[in-house]
Amino acid sequence: MKVGILGTGDVGKAIGNGFVALGHEVMMGAREAGNEKAKAWVQTTVGKGRNGTFADAAKFGEIIALCTLGTVSEELVRGLSGSLSGKTLWDTTNPLDFSTGAPRLAIAGHDSLGERIQKAAPGAKVVKVFNTVGNALMFKPKLAGGPPTMFIAGNDDATKKQTATMLKDWGWDSADIGNIEGSRYLEAMCMAWVHYAIKNGGWTHAFKLLR
Ligand SMILES: NC(=O)c1ccc[n+]([C@@H]2O[C@H](COP(=O)([O-])OP(=O)(O)OC[C@H]3O[C@@H](n4cnc5c(N)ncnc54)[C@H](OP(=O)(O)O)[C@@H]3O)[C@@H](O)[C@H]2O)c1
Repeated sequence: MKVGILGTGDVGKAIGNGFVALGHEVMMGAREAGNEKAKAWVQTTVGKGRNGTFADAAKFGEIIALCTLGTVSEELVRGLSGSLSGKTLWDTTNPLDFSTGAPRLAIAGHDSLGERIQKAAPGAKVVKVFNTVGNALMFKPKLAGGPPTMFIAGNDDATKKQTATMLKDWGWDSADIGNIEGSRYLEAMCMAWVHYAIKNGGWTHAFKLLR
């Protein structure tokens, strides 16, 4: 499968590495085609990775992972919406605002970044995923409590089923909490994850749903 990664940060690399490890062809996109972080990442991918602009990666991928700074993601996606139409769009972002020091949600309550991403690219099949865990645990997490649960939300049931199947290969159980409005609660869960990390001095935890 061809995968487009929008983002060159730790999440872009973690998601890109996961897809490469599973044998997929991955293009990492950035604002500039010559982005140094993307070029360095390509060197680690033994021929499975390539790099380009955000627009190149959005065109290249059959599935796209959005891994950009939360506060710029809505406008970025709006500009790419033509290339995202009909495709699965994994939205890993959180609308974090660091302007007062400690992170807080810039969008909250009866709205979410996930919903805004879906509205910005109405033809894309957006699935909120991987926003409730740190990048180090995204692919095949090894935790004493066993496989953690990735909570997902999105409007297209078939796309969420495909994502749930893929999550098994990534080492995750999954829990579908409903349509994209569920992003309101998953983005808030990110804050619970962050506050637990700050309080307990570690970033190697993940949520698990016990049934
Ligand atoms: N870090 C984690 O462990 C973690 C875990 C879960 C979810 N998340 C969420 O995942 C997303 C990515 O996080 P991250 O830590 O990997 O990286 P990040 O620093 O939040 O974002 C890096 C990406 O954002 C792009 N970017 C920054 N400013 C931009 C602008 N003005 N216009 C367009 N693009 C811009 C960068 O583009 P260039 O490549 O061109 O520089 C880069 O690709 C965030 O929304 C974050 O909240 C993070």
